[in-house]
Amino acid sequence: MKILVTGFTGKVGLQVANYLKDIDIPILCGVRNVERARAKFGDIYEYVSLDFSDPTTFDGALENIDRIFLMYPPGENLPFATFLEKAKDKEIKHITYLSLKDVQFMPFIHHYKMEKLIKSYNIPYTFVRAGYFMQNLNDFLCKEIKERQRIFVPAGKGKTSFIDTRDLAEISALTLVNEGKHKNQIYAVTGNEALDFFDVASIMTEVLGVKIQYTNPSVKEFREYMKKIGEDEGFVNVVVGVHMPTKLGLAKGIKHDYEKVTGKTPTNIRKYIEDFKESWI
Ligand SMILES: NC(=O)c1ccc[n+]([C@@H]2O[C@H](COP(=O)([O-])OP(=O)(O)OC[C@H]3O[C@@H](n4cnc5c(N)ncnc54)[C@H](OP(=O)(O)O)[C@@H]3O)[C@@H](O)[C@H]2O)c1
Repeated sequence: MKILVTGFTGKVGLQVANYLKDIDIPILCGVRNVERARAKFGDIYEYVSLDFSDPTTFDGALENIDRIFLMYPPGENLPFATFLEKAKDKEIKHITYLSLKDVQFMPFIHHYKMEKLIKSYNIPYTFVRAGYFMQNLNDFLCKEIKERQRIFVPAGKGKTSFIDTRDLAEISALTLVNEGKHKNQIYAVTGNEALDFFDVASIMTEVLGVKIQYTNPSVKEFREYMKKIGEDEGFVNVVVGVHMPTKLGLAKGIKHDYEKVTGKTPTNIRKYIEDFKESWI
């Protein structure tokens, strides 16, 4: 068994790689820049060049692979049909695809099209439909928390059922290792509490010992500020889009597939903030 882990340098892929490595499953880490990955993550991983916008990298990345952890990176119209065609030719046994919670109601989202595309190749799959990542707080929300002690995101008063990407990685890894059991299954994965960003700010304040505020900007205020500090408009649109379901009250649903598959309770946000405390200080 050898598993290709895509999005290795991202919030989920690295955790998937670490989970599999810890249980001694051979993995190949797909990265756009092998030298940069090696410099950052060291020689303990095996790397291969994989750029989803460049089909010439697909054969090499799929060599001697029989399972794939697949994520969709930033970017539109990537040639995934070509990638999946090659995966089919190479008789890949299973693809675990990182999708989005409630995607079945969002035909305009690329994850919806990707799920359909994967099914159309008849490659056994598991779709891990993920809720909102806790790790967004130490990724694109980190700078404002660290420098201005505020969670600055246009999410209104809506609640979100935050999930720790370590839990997502665990369930994803288990579906790859015991693929027969999880063949053609769809798991909706969230944490077990729905919180708004005022709640998150208050837990951060307690854990960090620094007053963190959720300033609840309107979409207009958010866009204007982001433009002023020179953020890319495409990125700003993505952030607004990601938080729209929360603002509309659609992100609070709690799902129990993580517990069903792992037999464990998902990580709560206080534990996540304690574990990543150093990120914001
Ligand atoms: N954030 C959320 O709350 C949330 C919730 C549900 C689902 N999702 C989904 O999760 C996925 C993002 O996962 P993530 O947060 O783990 O990723 P991430 O932290 O945003 O990192 C992006 C990854 O994609 C890689 N990448 C970028 N362009 C690439 C390309 N052309 N070819 C191959 N790899 C490329 C990056 O590698 P480099 O080092 O080369 O840049 C990096 O490893 C998205 O599909 C998103 O829709 C996110």
